[in-house]
Amino acid sequence: MFIDTHCHLHDAKFPDVDLIVNNYLRDGVEAVINMGCCAATSVMGKNLAEKYPSVYFATGCHPSDSNGFDDKEFETIRSLASHPKCVAVGEIGLDYYWKPFDKEKQADCFIKQIEFAKEAKLPICIHNRDATGDMLKILKDNKDKLTYGGVMHCFSGSVETAAEVLKLGLYISFAGPLTFKNASTLLDVAAFVPEDKCLTETDCPYLAPHPLRGTVNEPKNVTITSAFLAELKGKEVTEFAKTLTNNAKNLFYKMK
Ligand code: NI
Repeated sequence: MFIDTHCHLHDAKFPDVDLIVNNYLRDGVEAVINMGCCAATSVMGKNLAEKYPSVYFATGCHPSDSNGFDDKEFETIRSLASHPKCVAVGEIGLDYYWKPFDKEKQADCFIKQIEFAKEAKLPICIHNRDATGDMLKILKDNKDKLTYGGVMHCFSGSVETAAEVLKLGLYISFAGPLTFKNASTLLDVAAFVPEDKCLTETDCPYLAPHPLRGTVNEPKNVTITSAFLAELKGKEVTEFAKTLTNNAKNLFYKMK
């Protein structure tokens, strides 16, 4: 059985969530974590978690939504943390790809939520795009607040960056790009990351794995990326799925 540790079932690309849930349960995905991008989508995640037994959720503000991160927004995000199915603070981090962006605002939004995660006794799910240097600096400066750990989601960096992330005690999550034809650096990263620090995810509706690249991604496809990673690691898929599931439940401990 598999877990999709990062998905966005609240996305408008999923008009029929019943169908998507049935698809992944049929294909052996036992649970998914819906990541919040702002207060509204975090609330949507909570509502999905209350409707479907296999859905868990994270509450948080994505860096690309940090312009709207005011006191009211933060209050709503915080209020969700004590929900029994809220398993993480996320997704949070830095994104210097989508322009325009305000580096200071993103850093402030990121750091406030790292602090909040420690108070809430929850792990964090970190988004990083084109901001590796600043992201590692913030994480190192706030290392004492990473008590409940976290994951670098949809990892796309180098082996050197992976080593820094692991030194901080964080997990590394692989998504569809691991399976793409041009994934040479990621293949090295996958070989480098110890099995007990690996997670898999879809980040759906985006980033469908090969050979479905370009289509609307959905949680069932975490089986494709997980099987690909198992093969890279020289493991039998069913056995490796157990390792991945254990890893997810160790980090997202409220899922147990
Ligand atoms: Ni995401």
